[in-house]
Amino acid sequence: MTTEILKADEQSIRKAAALIKAGETVAFPTETVYGLGADALSAEAVKRIFAAKGRPSDNPLIVHVSGIEGIYAAAREVPPAVLKLAKNLGPAPLTYIVKRSDKIPDAVTAGLDTVAVRIPAHPAALALIRECGLPVAAPSANSSGRPSPTTAEHVFSDLNGRIPLILDGGVCGVGVESTVADFTGKVPVILRPGGFPKEKLEEILGTVVRIYRVPEGGQPKSPGLKYRHYAPRCRIVVVPYSEGLAFSLRNAYDNCVQTMNESAIILCQSVYGRDLEGRRFIALGDTAKEAAKALFGALRQNEDKYGTLICHTLPEEGIGRAFNDRLLRAAAGH
Ligand code: TXA
Ligand code: MG
Repeated sequence: MTTEILKADEQSIRKAAALIKAGETVAFPTETVYGLGADALSAEAVKRIFAAKGRPSDNPLIVHVSGIEGIYAAAREVPPAVLKLAKNLGPAPLTYIVKRSDKIPDAVTAGLDTVAVRIPAHPAALALIRECGLPVAAPSANSSGRPSPTTAEHVFSDLNGRIPLILDGGVCGVGVESTVADFTGKVPVILRPGGFPKEKLEEILGTVVRIYRVPEGGQPKSPGLKYRHYAPRCRIVVVPYSEGLAFSLRNAYDNCVQTMNESAIILCQSVYGRDLEGRRFIALGDTAKEAAKALFGALRQNEDKYGTLICHTLPEEGIGRAFNDRLLRAAAGH
């Protein structure tokens, strides 16, 4: 199969919708990362997503809809908190786990009694869903285990020959995936930190939101948590955020380059660059938002150039939580 890349516009979106309605898969931009979409009501179509990505079939997919009606169609029950958030926010990098409707096939939910639903905040994604007239099931459009794609080129390099079409909408603005939160219990629980901050969730809902931690030796609540994720082809050394960070980065670099005789580069926020005293580095911007937007691209761009990427965590707040989560998983996956 040849994989076409088309700039996302009215014409290419119509073509993409026709493919999805015919049971095919199409990669499309969202505000978080690129997704690989298929008809969420067709088990056959959804199986093609798993095949193209090499994704384990027990890892459920997010159903993308264009508005609140779409959440009602995918869910058996819409909890008041979800309604409040969806009304307040509209499209957002936030995924709601709710009780599933019978219309959603087992292939999407991996047989769970719940379904993940999200309204993506990207005009091309919304236009595609509307043009399909269907809910669109879509995981991130990477090969399973690889860093998520934030450009059409990233998708192409993983899935060339495995899907018919990639809609190119440029670089994703958020750069890390949506926040996945479970709304089926008394208190909302974040299963995966992401583009939507916990602090903002708590502010809108006026309640405390918990963050889920996989129990020691137990089964994780979100199947995706048990798989290897985001791993680039090289080693990652994580330096914890702290006072004297530039000193720790220099040490980690010298240890790689001088002691272990490896090629290395530091990925850091711009402010630390001037204190690295000539060591090779790439700046991931000034803010946590900029760092999150740049992370996956930086991993992909440098994985084949260096033996080791040295990167520091951010303060554990806002989108920094998502950045830290992806970085630590990427490091663990190698
Ligand atoms: O930003 C995003 O969320 C992107 C874009 C394309 O929307 N999508 C994405 O999908 O990151 P994916 O498949 O890479 O990650 C979805 C996560 C997985 O960890 C999966 O296990 C979890 O959501 N998930 C899906 N359905 C679930 C459910 N019913 N219960 C618990 N976790 C679920
Ligand atoms: Mg993914």
